[in-house]
Amino acid sequence: MEFFEEKRREVMVHIEQFMLEKMHEYLKPIDTIWQPSDFLPDSTRETFFNEIKEMRESAAGLSYDLIAVLIGDTITEEALPSYESWLTMVKGVSDNEEGGWMKWTRHWTAEENRHGDLLNKYLYLSGRVNMRAMEISTQYLIADGFDLGTGHDPYRNFIYTSFQELATNISHRRVASQAKKDGDALLSKMCGVIASDEARHAKAYKYFISKVFEVDPTEAMLAFEDMMRKKIVMPAHFLREVGLKIGQTFGHFTDAAQRLGIYTAIDYVDILRELITDWQIETVTGMGEQGEKARDYILALPDRLLRVADRMKNPNLEYKFSWING
Ligand SMILES: [Fe+2]
Ligand SMILES: [Fe+2]
Repeated sequence: MEFFEEKRREVMVHIEQFMLEKMHEYLKPIDTIWQPSDFLPDSTRETFFNEIKEMRESAAGLSYDLIAVLIGDTITEEALPSYESWLTMVKGVSDNEEGGWMKWTRHWTAEENRHGDLLNKYLYLSGRVNMRAMEISTQYLIADGFDLGTGHDPYRNFIYTSFQELATNISHRRVASQAKKDGDALLSKMCGVIASDEARHAKAYKYFISKVFEVDPTEAMLAFEDMMRKKIVMPAHFLREVGLKIGQTFGHFTDAAQRLGIYTAIDYVDILRELITDWQIETVTGMGEQGEKARDYILALPDRLLRVADRMKNPNLEYKFSWING
């Protein structure tokens, strides 16, 4: 175990130099990147009330499932304190406060913080949401934390975040196009800009892991295999509502997402395929027998998962969320 940790630290130190060089390719300058207020009515202006009225009129056309998914997405974004503290617990990340890993973690958190902020304000002004019920769910989710199966292993963590940033890119993008169909151009724009942040973050995490594959291929492959065997769970898997037990709302949230085609079992497979391609899993060299076996498992997995996905029925359970009025 000690050897394992020592080697991980060495690799983290090695990658840190690339991080410092490359970080700003994956982040945008703070002074000019979009802020929530760019999309929201300006409360210092006389036009404020009219703009809110227009917002509420467009939001009235959003389907029940779409509002439910948007609330679940917002709560997921607002559990950001959990993700930041989880990242700082990763071996090798918090060794040096001014080092590349901590710097990345802070800058990533700072960009992500805008997502929950924007969506929360939108939902508040939309007139569609029981804010108190939603806020209780948010507080619960942060208090309950999560169990992602990564431990404090940097490889597993950044494989997880590579996957997860791609998943959030897909879901925000789909909410954007659904919102447009439902006649809410402003919400569509908001989710579109959030989705593009997620895409940039995914590129960064995928880059870190591609560097790990260069220097520690066997362990990287074993970590990838392990995460895929466990399945990538969503960070909101403990989602609940007032009066319910831990995790009891999560399935209803994912059912709504699946029904609308916002995030489905097929998307999970597509993300896995993308990672396999980007990390050039088929041609990784320098691994022992164990690594080769792990590779075989990973390469066979997309087809296996697709067969299961084909048999899955679209959930049609009608569920009434405490978050949504009427
Ligand atoms: Fe986000
Ligand atoms: Fe993200």
